Amino acid sequence: MEFRRINGLPPYVFAEINRLRDEARHAGEDVIDLGFGNPDIPSPPIAVEKLAEAARNPRNHRYSSSRGLPNLRLAMSNLYKRRFEVAVDPETEVVFTIGAKEGLSHLMWVLLGPGDTALVPSPSYPIHIYAPLFAGAEVRQVKLGPGQDFFANLEAAWEEAWPRPKVIVFSFPHNPTTECVDLAWMERIVDFARSKEVVLVHDFAYSDTYFDGYEPPSVLQVPGAKDVAVELYTLTKSFSMAGWRVAFAIGNAEVVGALTKLKSYLDYGTFQPIQIASIVALNEAPDYPKTVNAIYESRRDTLVDGLNRIGWAVHKPAGTMFVWAAVPEPYQEMGSLEFAKLLVTEARVATSPGVGFGAGGEGYVRFALVENEQRIGQAVRNLRRSLTKLG
Ligand SMILES: Cc1ncc(COP(=O)(O)O)c(C=O)c1O
Repeated sequence: MEFRRINGLPPYVFAEINRLRDEARHAGEDVIDLGFGNPDIPSPPIAVEKLAEAARNPRNHRYSSSRGLPNLRLAMSNLYKRRFEVAVDPETEVVFTIGAKEGLSHLMWVLLGPGDTALVPSPSYPIHIYAPLFAGAEVRQVKLGPGQDFFANLEAAWEEAWPRPKVIVFSFPHNPTTECVDLAWMERIVDFARSKEVVLVHDFAYSDTYFDGYEPPSVLQVPGAKDVAVELYTLTKSFSMAGWRVAFAIGNAEVVGALTKLKSYLDYGTFQPIQIASIVALNEAPDYPKTVNAIYESRRDTLVDGLNRIGWAVHKPAGTMFVWAAVPEPYQEMGSLEFAKLLVTEARVATSPGVGFGAGGEGYVRFALVENEQRIGQAVRNLRRSLTKLG
């Protein structure tokens, strides 16, 4: 059969690593899985308790609100005021989404169609590349990472694209490169968007995952950003609520309104007890992200210090729950996929090959900090034993 939108998708390179991991596990081997960024830290206990209580009330078993309960949107608006000193109207500038991925994908549906173009960094979290493609639009990739001048690349991509791009998708702290930006960077991209009349979609998945005194800015902190920008804020990493599927699109009222309308046709919102428990997480456990962060920080230190000790030079990221590591020089010729395969089969450590995040990710592997410190320490020992060509 011919399928629309699916047939053109390239083979999922992460699936190959997962297959090798599963084979090794079936053979009784212990594989330390630092591949998929699936958080292992529990969600706030107070939210779990509220979820259980709300689930027992039959009134909450009916369809809920697609755009999110009013108090949930209000809790989000209060968070932006508290955290970023940004005023957002919970009625017109906030809409609930079923995770950032769903929000981003349907945002592309309302912003783009065949004949349109989006500018997307390379490497990128895969849905940033595929969501515009699913909407029928073209994607132009803009190189990001060590040694790249992102704004020069952005300007060049803009100049080369015709018709002119309508949307720029970006995300900082950045998955997978862990690059972080400051408010001046956000001002620059807002200026760019205003001058070119392009919509900014900022995926702020790592809004609360930061270390060493650095604080990630929201694009909405830039005065006037709401004229051109929407931001996705998710409870997935901040509150370690990945499976709950709770996120928001926040910002430009016209764009938020369009997404709200589309979603009113597509879904009935998330199960109401989940929305109620999310209100409790936001209002009554506002510091939970700090607890989550402290765990990621010590895992980061264990991994980065350990890798540097065994002769694999990597830097400490100031944000995200990842470590982005250049394939060590003696192994570079293999490419990131073959190297990641070697890490699973020889060292019993699963990572994500950089090429899975687009051509710009070649030459790197990504470690996700989703196992505990003892296991990460064990991963470093396994790597030292197996990577015999390290200096
Ligand atoms: C950049 C980025 N955006 C979005 C997500 C997924 O967010 P959600 O669970 O809210 O869909 C992730 C998860 O890894 C991510 O890294």
